[in-house]
Amino acid sequence: MTVFIGATGNCWAQKAEGLASTPQMGWNSWNKFACDIDERLIRETADAMVRQGLKDVGFQYVNIDDCWQGQRDADGNIQPDPKRFPSGMKALADYVHGKGLKLGIYSDAGATTCGGRPGSRGHEYQDARTYARWGIDYVKYDWCDTPGLNAEAAYTTMRDAIAKAGRPMVFSICEWGMSKPWEWAGHVGHSWRTTPDIYNCFDCEYSPGFSTGLGVLRILDKQANLRKFAGPGHWNDMDMLEVGNGMSEDEDRAHLSIWAMMASPLILGNDLRSMTEATRRILTNPGVIAVSQDKLGVQALRILADGPLEIYAKPLEGDQWALMFLNRSNQAVDVRHDWKAHLLTDDLSKRSVDFKQTVYRWSDLWSKKTGDTSAKLEARLAPHSVLMLRLTSPAKP
Ligand code: GLA
Repeated sequence: MTVFIGATGNCWAQKAEGLASTPQMGWNSWNKFACDIDERLIRETADAMVRQGLKDVGFQYVNIDDCWQGQRDADGNIQPDPKRFPSGMKALADYVHGKGLKLGIYSDAGATTCGGRPGSRGHEYQDARTYARWGIDYVKYDWCDTPGLNAEAAYTTMRDAIAKAGRPMVFSICEWGMSKPWEWAGHVGHSWRTTPDIYNCFDCEYSPGFSTGLGVLRILDKQANLRKFAGPGHWNDMDMLEVGNGMSEDEDRAHLSIWAMMASPLILGNDLRSMTEATRRILTNPGVIAVSQDKLGVQALRILADGPLEIYAKPLEGDQWALMFLNRSNQAVDVRHDWKAHLLTDDLSKRSVDFKQTVYRWSDLWSKKTGDTSAKLEARLAPHSVLMLRLTSPAKP
């Protein structure tokens, strides 16, 4: 643990440094399985992460969401549900570690979780110690049952508890963006949710009354103005992915591309054991993953909005860029992009390109086509699809 003595004489602990230096990549049980989870699912998911080639492209965290908890014992120690996790969490962590992967767990700042299980309120230090003893590598910390609680204080308590427990764990803040965590959580967690939960659709939202679920585009639109808060070790989290859960292939490709461009954590939410070959190929696209995992860690900016067509740009290391052309509509859109007519500028990272002066080569990360910026880019974008390019510098004119 690192402890700092502040000017006022106060001691405070730090979140684990060196973790999530690029957006964390893994899987989480919630989107597909909700409370229907057990140790077999977790073991089989770890097996599938390796077998399906996901580990090879960088996915490593296998995260158990809500509903793993049983009761606290007489000393207040949290126990896993004995029916669903009879071998215990230490054995599960050993299994997952044996595959070269890492294990994540879930709790909540309130007395009860969103699924009505025991939360960590009043047990923060004890729970963090328990997780460390089990070999947990990642803690997602939710925000149900917290009336009257101050989010910054509650999340800072858990950060300090994790630091005191002495095992480096990614700390994933999940309070849905309600208290603007981007303004205070940079030193508290490794990522913070910016929105309510994702809903499995491209352009819709679902409000059954007690909560709202947002589709892919609705979440994207809520990231406006947040990019300056993201960077290595502290990311805007757009929630777990719905790739492979029923959207079209174009929508799934667009969904993953958007999350990669925006440097959001990439936490899969489908059944890895039984996904189709099409889903597997989408999730293991090395070019798209490389954009997400670029070491600069700069979140994309929107450089053009023209009706249903939007263009996003993400500066990459080595004077490179990723560009994403997004068709938001359910009609095809024709793109005719004159590179030379648009100066590509990012004030945040102080990067710019004048294509009148410099020719960049591009490669299409989905179709594998190539070209350069000396000629206009012409393409037809299918409904709800993207064209995602890596621009490499600079080809000689
Ligand atoms: C909240 C979170 C979800 C999930 C559920 C579990 O809704 O935002 O991601 O963890 O709780 O109950």
